[in-house]
Amino acid sequence: MQEKILVLDFGGQYNMLIARRVREQHVYAEIRPYNRITPDEIREGGYRGIIFTGGPNSVYDSASPHYDPAILELGIPILGICYGQQLMAWMAGGEIASAESGSEYGKVTVRLSPCALFDGVPESSVCWMSHTDYVKTVPVGFAVTAVTDNCPCAAMADEARALYAVQFHPEVTHTAFGREMLHNFLFGVCRCAGDWRMDDFVGSAVEKYRVQLAGKRVLCALSGGVDSSVAAVLLHRAVGERLTCVFVDHGLLRKDEGDLVERVFRRQFNMNLIRVDARERFLSRLAGVTEPEKKRKIIGEEFIRVFEEEGRKLGHVDVLAQGTIYPDVIESGAGDASVIKSHHNVGGLPDVIDFESIVEPLRDLFKDEVRAVGLELGIPAELVMRQPFPGPGLAVRVLGEITEEKLAVLREADAIFRQEVDAAGLSDAPSQYFAVLTNNRSVGVMGDARTYGWTVALRAVTTDDFMTADWTRLPFEVLASASSRITNEVKSVSRVVYDITSKPPATVEWE
Ligand code: XMP
Repeated sequence: MQEKILVLDFGGQYNMLIARRVREQHVYAEIRPYNRITPDEIREGGYRGIIFTGGPNSVYDSASPHYDPAILELGIPILGICYGQQLMAWMAGGEIASAESGSEYGKVTVRLSPCALFDGVPESSVCWMSHTDYVKTVPVGFAVTAVTDNCPCAAMADEARALYAVQFHPEVTHTAFGREMLHNFLFGVCRCAGDWRMDDFVGSAVEKYRVQLAGKRVLCALSGGVDSSVAAVLLHRAVGERLTCVFVDHGLLRKDEGDLVERVFRRQFNMNLIRVDARERFLSRLAGVTEPEKKRKIIGEEFIRVFEEEGRKLGHVDVLAQGTIYPDVIESGAGDASVIKSHHNVGGLPDVIDFESIVEPLRDLFKDEVRAVGLELGIPAELVMRQPFPGPGLAVRVLGEITEEKLAVLREADAIFRQEVDAAGLSDAPSQYFAVLTNNRSVGVMGDARTYGWTVALRAVTTDDFMTADWTRLPFEVLASASSRITNEVKSVSRVVYDITSKPPATVEWE
């Protein structure tokens, strides 16, 4: 049986990172909401270890996520993180209190005592904290294994029962030795072998869909981006000719993108591909709409309508496939995490859908895992390593009302910016780089005349999971040449600015 760790989800924003960090160490991690799995199912599931995630609640609230204390008696090692530590303490009979001096938030120095979790970790190091409640009295059998100036129990352990817990977040990169701590838990405590690789995912996913979709006709929404491309090729392997890909040209694509997608999938992969020219249809529905969430909903809905229609034209289609990935699921507020943006392929789904079911083969994967799957499937690196492009396309980069004119301006400016970054040999430096057409006009001067043109913003971010991101320090020369080319070559742009905001507090896209 595949060695695996259960990440028991109590609903915090960092939860998926935990799974990702475990998988990075070649141990498969499965995320399950706490209220969808019982201790008996956990016992039968054959998990090597369990991680309780953080969560926004206080254990004494009756509405807070609680769990059957029987889980502590299963004999399976457990690591509790943040709320997970408080929950473990509460379940085992300890006492939780609310910090009188307020919350502890950010980088904090933690002093550790020896235990298996901290093997090889310096006695004093920086950890990332984000909490108000803390464990005041550890349960019987537990010892305090870390403290900070403000927190008397920054970690605790009952080593005899292989129960460990930390108040800080080992999964975030700000915790200097978080990776080592997770490594100790996985290999020192849970005795994992660490033999999970992406090709296991490909093999088992192809097999799973071969069975699940036997005899079914599948329609795949292909945007040409990394996610839907990988989903399409994966499903093509599983169902072959029974897969038809529909590529909707919604008029919100980057320069020359439609032709590229057509070339790659039709010629190279020999897939059944239908290219639908829906440009007018989308633009007319978007006319006059300025509110970002509304734009996303309209686009998501229109996508589904187009697919339904194409599906009907094809005769009987049973299943709709989508390239949803894990960050889309979390950020759209599935589970308990709060909604940040509704990604069109999740939150924007209308209630009435003409298909029997939807499959989302990449739903549990992070972006870099999706890329690894893509390479494993033999998709050319130039496509797989492409920067992500949002489903709603340029609609979330043309701020305010979307018009043909604004789209045309953005397409040109964006192409120039990308050319300049690529020409400088920097295409791998940022994780994503693009232009945004702000809804601002500003005064400029060209020749002897006053101009009143658009302001284009350039954005480049560096990240490995898109949940947090830093703005990329692109060399000034690259920004300078992009700016001068854009203002010279794109009529009606009179100003170019560079976005120097990280995520958080901003998001990657402007809308
Ligand atoms: P944000 O703007 O949420 O973006 O920080 C994080 C990543 O997600 C992409 N993105 C989307 N992808 N549908 C998608 O498929 C969407 O609606 C969507 N919105 C943002 C964004 O480009 C970045 O890579």
